[in-house]
Amino acid sequence: MASADASIGQFWKQIGVRQVQLGSGLILFAYVVSHLFNHALGNVSIRTMDEFLLYQIAFWRSWPLTIVLYGAVFTHMALGLWSVYRRREFRWRFAEPLQLALGLSIPLLLMFHISGVRIAAALYGHEKLYPQALYAYYVYWPHLAALHYVALIVCWLHGCMGVFFWLRLKPVFPKIAAYLLAAAVLLPSLALLGLYQGGREVTVASETVEWRAEHRTVAKTGTQAQQDVLDKITLYFCIGYLAVIAGLLAARGARALREQRGSTIRFSYGDGKTIRVQKGLSVLEASLRNDIPHSSVCGGRARCSTCRIRVVSDCARLPKASKRETFVLERVGSSSDPAIRLACQLCPEHDIAFVPLFPATLKTSLLDEGKETRVGQERYLVNMFVDMRGSTKLAETRLPFDTVFIVNRFISAVSQGVLACGGTPNQFVGDGILALFGLSADPRIACRQAIRAAAQIAINVEELNRFLAHDLREPIRFGIGINAGEVIVGDIGYRDHMSFTALGDPVNVGSRLEGLTKTLSCEVVISEEVYRTAGLPENALPHEEVPIHGRVETMRVRKAVNARDLAALIDDVVPEAA
Ligand code: FES
Repeated sequence: MASADASIGQFWKQIGVRQVQLGSGLILFAYVVSHLFNHALGNVSIRTMDEFLLYQIAFWRSWPLTIVLYGAVFTHMALGLWSVYRRREFRWRFAEPLQLALGLSIPLLLMFHISGVRIAAALYGHEKLYPQALYAYYVYWPHLAALHYVALIVCWLHGCMGVFFWLRLKPVFPKIAAYLLAAAVLLPSLALLGLYQGGREVTVASETVEWRAEHRTVAKTGTQAQQDVLDKITLYFCIGYLAVIAGLLAARGARALREQRGSTIRFSYGDGKTIRVQKGLSVLEASLRNDIPHSSVCGGRARCSTCRIRVVSDCARLPKASKRETFVLERVGSSSDPAIRLACQLCPEHDIAFVPLFPATLKTSLLDEGKETRVGQERYLVNMFVDMRGSTKLAETRLPFDTVFIVNRFISAVSQGVLACGGTPNQFVGDGILALFGLSADPRIACRQAIRAAAQIAINVEELNRFLAHDLREPIRFGIGINAGEVIVGDIGYRDHMSFTALGDPVNVGSRLEGLTKTLSCEVVISEEVYRTAGLPENALPHEEVPIHGRVETMRVRKAVNARDLAALIDDVVPEAA
């Protein structure tokens, strides 16, 4: 019960304005997809279009869906208007303003259609299906057909850009990008063609008296007086909407004037660079406005954490982190340090000095020098920490050369085990190794590979112990922690000293699991996440609830006293991983 409450709490913590905007946008996008599909059926016949439309109406006009749909319309529109006021700088200077402009134009482009169909149905009970709508656009007011096409293309482009900005950081995106692109081109093309075919069919059919008697009745299309009222509604809505946008632009102008006249504050970047900015800008916006490269993989959407900074001035004067900022910082294990903040969310009120924690990747020195750098990306990875036990003692009793030789032999035994099982040795810190699994394998395979690698490392270290038996007072021992989850991967470092690695809470926890091998008196500690994803039987390894440093909740882990035993376990269950 307590853990269910904690998960609900976690869920609400991650919901910010961006997430609400995304959620409402996805609902509207689903509606547009179903609508375009319906239009595409015009390539078959008007009858097919109409038959499917009845299902659509039954679905989208049901009470729950009506509430959801209109809730999404108003929420998305309100947040779009709020963006006009709030945003000062865009990370992608063409794509983001374009998406915003397309979104703002949608209500104006669609209002004639909404008032002619939905408002007419609500006010007068009109029953307008495809024959009536296509007659209006292709026969009665032919110029409306072009407007309808433009509205459709604008809605689609706006939605596709939103989906792209949302999915581009997901691990699955590279795999599905080609399919999405094909769908993004095919669906609207077929829809436009379907409307055109339907329009032609109606144009020909409407010349007969019988067709007009059946489809142009007052019950279906209304009277001229009713149409006049609908036209007025469209006109007043458009005037009102334009007035709201004008008001927002005026408010932006007034704010800019106020800020110009108001006091400025100083941002110091830690490398000697200092700028003066108006209060109200976020640190990231200030960097972009002053052309100072600043890493921001998600474009300031509080998703990637790559804009992180360490504040080196007085943290007590910083505004409190929002719910969403706290959530992102918690995910990367930085929420307990008040000096770590997200540059895209922090709007300081006083002078501030800070150091960006990540190199500004794209369009910075590396790119200018023509080198390729891997920009941060969110993805699911398995991390494994391996640490050699007693290396300090080893160093005390040996010549430095001997110590380096033995540690290097240990690192090579571990690395060979990792490589043999499909992983990648990634970082070497002293006698500790971070290995990654899943860079080119799916999560299930990656978890199995990591567990198999733990056994292989044990076998390799045993061999090494035999080889060094005469040199060592006691055999080399080790501890391994394995964890998995969504992390940020990318090139981290400075100028020529960049290296590819993974960052995030799952990596920090993996390191702590390795530390737990000492207290749990075992060689390997595996998180429940890895164990379950690998598909191992429930009772094959004992489990335990353990406290994790820096976390309130305990964590369920599996422990293997001898890493070597994992080979038999995984070979029995998943022989293909061997
Ligand atoms: S830019 Fe992605 S979290 Fe700030």
